[in-house]
Amino acid sequence: MTGFQRDAQGRAILGGVPLDALLAPERGITTPAYVYDLSEISRRAHTLGAALSGRPHLVAYALKANSAGHVVRTLQQAGAGADVVSGAELLLARRSGIPPEHIVMSGVAKTDAELDLALAESILAIQAESVEEVARIAQRARAVGRSARISLRINPSIAVDTHAHIATGHDAAKFGIALADLPAVLGRVGTDTSVLSLTGISSHIGSMQRDVEDYARAANVVCDVARHALDAGAPLRFADFGGGFAIDYGDGDVTAPTDFIHAALDVQRRRGLSELAVVIEPGRWLVGPAGVLVAQVVQSKQGAERSWLMLDAGMNDLLRPALYGARHRIEPLDRPPGGRAFRVVGPVCESTDDFGEFELGEPLPRHVVVRDAGAYGFVMSSEYNGRPLPAEVFVRDGEIVHVSHSPGAERWVEARLRA
Ligand code: LLP
Repeated sequence: MTGFQRDAQGRAILGGVPLDALLAPERGITTPAYVYDLSEISRRAHTLGAALSGRPHLVAYALKANSAGHVVRTLQQAGAGADVVSGAELLLARRSGIPPEHIVMSGVAKTDAELDLALAESILAIQAESVEEVARIAQRARAVGRSARISLRINPSIAVDTHAHIATGHDAAKFGIALADLPAVLGRVGTDTSVLSLTGISSHIGSMQRDVEDYARAANVVCDVARHALDAGAPLRFADFGGGFAIDYGDGDVTAPTDFIHAALDVQRRRGLSELAVVIEPGRWLVGPAGVLVAQVVQSKQGAERSWLMLDAGMNDLLRPALYGARHRIEPLDRPPGGRAFRVVGPVCESTDDFGEFELGEPLPRHVVVRDAGAYGFVMSSEYNGRPLPAEVFVRDGEIVHVSHSPGAERWVEARLRA
């Protein structure tokens, strides 16, 4: 069995590996440590691929969610491409074996150097996010003597019901091309056909989406624009409906990703655009539930108003609770949750370094597992407060595949002394 489970004794297991066994001293794995189940990631990629089978398609994994080499290579082997948002992510995708024709590049502020790299690598499409950017892509294409395949990332003006920080398709967002700017942008593309080839139309309206209707509305807008562009003679090859499929962080409120995919495919078929390849850009759904963060309980403290429990993992290791008020289930490693509740916090000198309240029981566990931490976990970590980056452990089918140890305090001190 893949993913997170408890065995008959109640011990936490990930990908068939008992998590407490990872902490045996002879392994040298220090906490905090992220642990990822590569089989679960692969299974998830195949689920999305199967939902799209029968249509030309690309699952462009949003690499920002988890850029560990083992994760990216696992997804590449499962047939995924990549949605990258920087030159470094593009290089990582290429060196992980993802072919250029399976890569799209998004982002509102791609530098000239990043555009030049995308042109040199000849990726499937640079996703343009403004009229101004279309002009700059044309200019770079001329400068390097290449033709640029571009996709127009549309802002469809849809306010998704998600955390404000991760809603991207509404009028006040910095992302995408406003509908009002479409005539200008299509005109601009039309005048530069010697260096611009309009290959796709795309949209991504936000993360942690639960409403299939929103996704279908955005798909409708994408198809409107695609139809318009095709009628104007553009050599379109794909429609990209974005990512954003929510996962269940423990509240049970979630929609199957296949529901989103089927809704978009339906829209595309009804609009007579089935000849276009379908691109989706999932990040969180592919990797989130396949990862956990294992932390040590440092101590408890009886405060004036509540009982605190201090971990050796903090907001520098997992920023989501501090940044979005996100809640990740925190459970004892050696037994299921239950019993006395504690307010669980990290060591960082910030009040927002607070993971929320969890039933951890007594006696206190020595270690806890922070669940669903495979996406936007390690990638958003920092060394704030002199806390070296956490370890990462990769497991598959009951075996440890690889361990990336934490750089440790000594390396941090040396680096800061050299600065
Ligand atoms: N495509 C684009 C253009 C994106 O900006 C994103 C995410 C995705 C795809 C993938 O979205 P996903 O399927 O992972 O929801 N740090 C936040 C999430 C930020 C998402 C940014 N963009 C968090 O921890 O919740």
